[in-house]
Amino acid sequence: MDATRTPGSLVCVGLGMTLGSHLGPLARSHIEQADVVFAGLSDGIVELWLNKMHTDVRSLQPYYREGRSRMQTYRQMVDAILTEVRAGKRVCGVFYGHPGVFAWAPHKSIEIARSEGYPARMEPGISAEDCLYADLGIDPGRFGCQHFEASQLLFYQRRIDPTAYLVLWQVGLVGDQSLARFSTGPAYKQVLVDVLARDYPLGHELIIYRTATLPIQSPRIERVVLGDLPQADIGMADTVVIPPARAMQVDHEMRARLDVLDRAMSDAVRDVG
Ligand SMILES: C[S@@+](CC[C@H](N)C(=O)[O-])C[C@H]1O[C@@H](n2cnc3c(N)ncnc32)[C@H](O)[C@@H]1O
Repeated sequence: MDATRTPGSLVCVGLGMTLGSHLGPLARSHIEQADVVFAGLSDGIVELWLNKMHTDVRSLQPYYREGRSRMQTYRQMVDAILTEVRAGKRVCGVFYGHPGVFAWAPHKSIEIARSEGYPARMEPGISAEDCLYADLGIDPGRFGCQHFEASQLLFYQRRIDPTAYLVLWQVGLVGDQSLARFSTGPAYKQVLVDVLARDYPLGHELIIYRTATLPIQSPRIERVVLGDLPQADIGMADTVVIPPARAMQVDHEMRARLDVLDRAMSDAVRDVG
């Protein structure tokens, strides 16, 4: 790095999911103090709102193009961000939700900036995951909660625990091996159903969930049975939540080991007393 130049820096912040109500004061101050702001947002109205906070907001949205691999799109976004950091600017990347949740470009930009010696960090935001716990009344600590990118369940052999909640992201794109499509259809969702049917009955009820991005909206909370998922209308902004289908099983062997430890502990306490 040239020591005479103003050192560039990068911070990636989350705008949260709902316009207005989710932006924290620290993220807002990063936006206001940046030289350049890059915006990876899902909603044009939210982008207009961000434009009011800074005079140089550059949308990352035009990089998306149907038919072009999303990996290429993400690399172009990273290049655009890093170009300004290398030019000595204080750069703020603003992403909807949490900038580090199912978001490749913010993590990669920070990794590269740091490897080149620039200060770079991430500030958390309120993600779709946070919203679904509130809107659906789910406590992930009750039965546990697995999260998967839906296509991963098709591309790889993953282990699902049907005694926990299962949250599936990007179901609207499930099975897209090209990474270049904006949606896949019922036949692809049927493959997902076939995978899920190894662990869940076809009559098991799932929730199609979309949190409100504007304060005037209500969340989408639609229940369908697994067997009907291929016909369900699932878009880019929907998340599928599968409640547990089975009760947790007691692990008798581990309980017995713990009993032995408990007895040893109380014997030790008694001996000391
Ligand atoms: C690329 S990820 C971005 C997630 C985002 N960074 C966050 O913090 O939630 C896109 C996926 O997030 C979920 N998602 C996006 N918008 C949503 C919304 N309004 N309600 C529920 N889930 C949403 C969907 O599963 C969608 O396929």
